[in-house]
Amino acid sequence: MKPRRLLVTSALPYANGAIHIGHLVEYLQTDFWVRFQKMRGHKCVYVCADDTHGTPIMIRARQEGITPEELIARSYESHVRDFSDFEIAFDNYYSTHSPENRAFCEAIYARMVESNSLTTRMLPQLYCEHDRMFLPDRFVKGTCPKCQAAEQYGDSCDRCAATYSPSDLADAHCAICGRKPVLRESEHIFFELELYREYLREWLPEHTARDVSNKLMEWFGEPLRAWDISRDAPYFGFEIPGHPGKFFYVWVDAPIGYMASLKNWCDRHGESFEGWWNDPGTEIYHFIGKDIVRFHCLFWPAMLRCGGFKGPDQVFVHGFLTVNGEKMSKSKGTFISARTYLDH
Ligand code: MSP
Ligand code: ZN
Repeated sequence: MKPRRLLVTSALPYANGAIHIGHLVEYLQTDFWVRFQKMRGHKCVYVCADDTHGTPIMIRARQEGITPEELIARSYESHVRDFSDFEIAFDNYYSTHSPENRAFCEAIYARMVESNSLTTRMLPQLYCEHDRMFLPDRFVKGTCPKCQAAEQYGDSCDRCAATYSPSDLADAHCAICGRKPVLRESEHIFFELELYREYLREWLPEHTARDVSNKLMEWFGEPLRAWDISRDAPYFGFEIPGHPGKFFYVWVDAPIGYMASLKNWCDRHGESFEGWWNDPGTEIYHFIGKDIVRFHCLFWPAMLRCGGFKGPDQVFVHGFLTVNGEKMSKSKGTFISARTYLDH
């Protein structure tokens, strides 16, 4: 049997919290699969990294009175310790806050510009005058406009699963300070996903399980909505070249972090990045949870396509470890940490 070349990833855990046993559903199953492939004699590289950018990490650092860099350094250490005590054998565990990642982001962004895949337009968004920042959906709370459940996030309701925009909430308030936000306009940069419709329509059924692609195909009944890839300062992330004060949305640089981690591994092992990622003989497999399918099965393949990189061969999607029927969750505090599990 000819050995295959496999590149395998698990989703990059956010650097603002501990690894919990819900996360481990993913890292353990990926690890089993990787060990199995290695035992079969295939050349298999398993990369991952901390996902270090975005508003929650910036806010968390602010609340703890440290810099985001200090926060992510601390998380990195604790994540690596937890993973290694669970014997998850990454070939490389890196960080999205890395020079490799910045370079790939800028290169893919340049391709987005060259291929006319970007548009800009003014976008009104909720802004907290007290905290002096635009509030991402998760930082606005209020009553669900559909089912009236209280204290729901600004983008979706946990009780009835309705999705809406934060300004639909009657009693919207800032999740940081509790004050009422105002609407403010700023210019945003959009990635025109619709340009990749045909590519995605063909890509999806071939590269994800049928239930996943069927679900996503529902979106193809109308034009695919453009994806807002910019965020205004203050934001912890990479500044967009040529747009001072604007940063790449964390979900732009997060999947690119898979490439950065591979590149870092290649450089340390005398291997060629191109020879891995872009070799048609390399098979690329992502393991993810069902909450992040949209990012991995729509935006990510489109970004790769635009950037001239090979797309994933298969995205394996798993469900959730639940507590009383709800997703074990860091943000809701319903988790058992990896460390607690190990200790007991
Ligand atoms: N940072 C993003 C992923 C970026 S990938 C380019 C993220 N991080 S996360 O820490 O919230 O989740 C990491 C992975 O763990 C995701 O695939 C997520 O679905 C999975 N899980 C988180 N909680 C889980 C359970 N309760 N059960 C099973 N998987 C869980 O999303
Ligand atoms: Zn506020």
